[in-house]
Amino acid sequence: MQKLLVQGGYRLNGEINIGGMKNSALPVIYATILVKDECILENIPRVSDIDNSIEILRQMGAYCEFIDTHTLLINTKNLSSEINGFELISKMRASSYLMGTMLARFGKAYLPMPGGCNFGKRPIEQHIKGFEHLGAKCIEDNGFINITTNKKLKSNKITLDKISVGATINIVLASIFLDGLTIIENSAMEPHVDDTIRFLNMCGAKILRCKSRIYIEGVKALHSSRYRIFPDMIESLTYMTFLGICGGDITLVGVKYEHIKYVCDIFKKMNFNIDTYEDEVRARVNEQVEGANIITAPYPLFPTDLHPQFASLLCFSSTGGTIRDDVFPTRFAYAKELEKMGANIERIENSIKIYPSKIHSATLDATDLRAGAALVACALGAQGESIINNVNYIVRGYEDIVGKVTSLGGKIKIIKET
Ligand code: UD1
Repeated sequence: MQKLLVQGGYRLNGEINIGGMKNSALPVIYATILVKDECILENIPRVSDIDNSIEILRQMGAYCEFIDTHTLLINTKNLSSEINGFELISKMRASSYLMGTMLARFGKAYLPMPGGCNFGKRPIEQHIKGFEHLGAKCIEDNGFINITTNKKLKSNKITLDKISVGATINIVLASIFLDGLTIIENSAMEPHVDDTIRFLNMCGAKILRCKSRIYIEGVKALHSSRYRIFPDMIESLTYMTFLGICGGDITLVGVKYEHIKYVCDIFKKMNFNIDTYEDEVRARVNEQVEGANIITAPYPLFPTDLHPQFASLLCFSSTGGTIRDDVFPTRFAYAKELEKMGANIERIENSIKIYPSKIHSATLDATDLRAGAALVACALGAQGESIINNVNYIVRGYEDIVGKVTSLGGKIKIIKET
């Protein structure tokens, strides 16, 4: 096991590259199952969630190889419909995309129920509702989901009761080869959904988004293609929270500004100076940021995946603020850790109130990926040396966080736990 050692109190200056978006690279990797041929995916982030998904595909018989650092070749021609070994699958939320892809390719799927995670329940009844509307039978049994078909699946209209990224992508995947037109109403509009749709269209699918409605016209087969994953909006925004805490002048290279504009507008109100160029964003913070009140919600509003890092930022703000998480209302495990650093926090149902706090260094435990990033943020602003345990959570989603923070002048290193 490894831990992070962070020496806080240094301004951040310089330029870093933003990697590909983990949360769209994952569904795109699973979507290659439908291509039954070779695909080349560019801008794949080197994080452990991706490695684990590649390993799952390999165990199913796919050929996967990085042909350069961020370019992944996948050939799913010889994929087996039987899965041997459920250990990795049961650990990964993203493996739930095997439900839609296996149903579309093999007409059946038998998998462990996607695991919950440390920030609350992750139900899948909307995924199941979608599969059942297409004619599949879904039975949950002893921690497994068994999806079968006794007749040909049929396109249909599905209205999601709740906006869900996972369910939207899974229903798109399941309906790719169906005769006629499948329509998803109240779909998620996250860039990760549209990245997956763009990839599938590049491979010959016929999918059209009209605001929150998605039309999928079935096709007979997909063909191989080369596709570049969108930049990671959450990685970009996480580094901006680090900047807000430490002050300085950073340029993020390889960013899609439209994906982060909603949050950047909030940052601007908090005293960030933000300039945008073609695929770069320069952000400067010269004085203490002001507070803000936010509510997380599906895209294009404030992302739940930035909630913990934003909480850290508020600790360093002049006026504090509140965060209400309407997507994952119990996503507050990080708060206990921030309190170890002196954060002045009050929990009120599914909200948290954060007062301006005198933050000091401490020994901390990351409880999940974004909570881990929040601890890094706070530790970068604290005087003294902090230790963050459970680095494995952080490397699930932030490629080379140590190298990137170091290149900006932050003091952070990984040490082996003894
Ligand atoms: C969510 C985020 C996504 C983020 C990902 C990783 C949203 C809308 N989604 O996606 O941006 O990248 O976490 O952290 O912000 N739900 C149900 N029933 C279902 C499916 C979902 O009630 O069948 C609920 C969830 O409990 C949650 C909300 O819907 O409250 C959104 O869930 P969903 O978008 O499916 O979660 P992820 O796909 O994991």
